[in-house]
Parts: sequence; structure tokens; C-alpha cells
Amino acid sequence: MKLRYFSHSAFQITSSSGIRILIDPFFENNPTAPVSADELSAEYIILTHAHGDHVGDSFKIADRCDPLFISVNELANYCIEKGYRAHNMHIGGAFVFEFGRVKLTIAHHGSMTPDNTYGGSPAGVVLSVDGVTLYHTGDTGLFYDMKLIGERDKIDYMLLPIGDNFTMGIDDAVKAVELTEPRVAIPMHYNTFPVIEADPHEFKDKVARTGTKALVLEYGEEIEL
Ligand code: NI
Ligand code: MN
Repeated sequence: MKLRYFSHSAFQITSSSGIRILIDPFFENNPTAPVSADELSAEYIILTHAHGDHVGDSFKIADRCDPLFISVNELANYCIEKGYRAHNMHIGGAFVFEFGRVKLTIAHHGSMTPDNTYGGSPAGVVLSVDGVTLYHTGDTGLFYDMKLIGERDKIDYMLLPIGDNFTMGIDDAVKAVELTEPRVAIPMHYNTFPVIEADPHEFKDKVARTGTKALVLEYGEEIEL
């Protein structure tokens, strides 16, 4: 499988069978995005929560390729009301899709849709594709139950925010890695806007001191997992 990073919290996973899954695709109002929404297609779009920097260009992409949205019930219903296809889930629940397993976790944050209706609970997502398990935390502050999340599913790659202000900052993110014990930590949700400026290499160095590997992905970079 492949993992591509687009800056902010936006990633694309491509399974070995070619199924494309976008997570929080935010491009057009994202000054750091290396691609435009027109360049991407997906069979699935996973939304961690309803904020504009996560729903992003989902609907523009969906208008072109009709993906299945995956999110908490309230946000899935919002997608359905707008005329899209969605699979409703909720926190603590897992479901096996054709590409692999998705489990939603808690995240400590808010969730209002761009038109200011309630988006349900924010979530993180544990995703297992081709035998690789990723944990995209969504937007969240540090919480101790990350330890439990890491115990229930052995995490290969943890994708977590370091930008502070709206989410964990670097030091709390390092603690989050210590609690979850992934094989590799990948920072996200930083340097998109001045208020979330953070040095991913400072995060990488601090994580390395705990004995875990951190990987700083370039904007647009794709790696094979
Ligand atoms: Ni948010
Ligand atoms: Mn955000």
C-alpha cells in the first residue's frame, strides 16, 4: 500500500489492489497544498470531523467520482443530505470495507460543519490496509486513552497533529507517541497557517529520544508502506 501526504491533515492511501482512500482532503483554501482538488480521485473519503479544514474539497471531488464517505453518523448524514453516498459509523465501532478495516476512536475537539450545523463527535481513525495499521488521530488534544488505542491495535504508523493552538503541540504529541507506541510517528496539522507554526524536525528529534522513529513527509510525497 502507499501513503501520500498533502500537508495539513490530508492523506491518500492507495491499497495494493488500487483502491484510493482520501482522509480529510483540504486543498483549495490550504496555502500549503501541493495539488488541487481536480487532480485527485478516490473510491472512499474518510472525514475525521466536520471542520472546514478537514471536509475541505470533499464535495468537489465527490461530484466528479462519487466516493463513499466514511464518518461518524451525524457527519455521514450531512453528506447524505447533500446527495452523496456515506457509510455511517460511530466511535468505538469498526467495519470491514473492501480495502480493509476502519475503526473510529475518540478525539478531544469540536465539530461544526462549514454551514454551522452540528457535525457530531470529532473522531480519530484506525485503518488497517494490506496488513498495515495506521492511526490518524484527527484533530485532538492529548488524552491518556491513546495508550488503550495502542493496546487494542498494534499501530504501525501514527499520524498526529503537532501545530498546537487547535490541537496537541509538539511536546504533547511526543507524549502521545509514548502512550500509543507506534512503530513510526508522522507529524501533521502544522505550518498551514501562522497560528499553527511548528518545526516537524524538533518533533522528530524529540520522538527519536524516546526510541521511536518519526518520519517527516514532504508536501506531496508518497511512500510505500
Ligand atoms: Ni478541527
Ligand atoms: Mn483542523
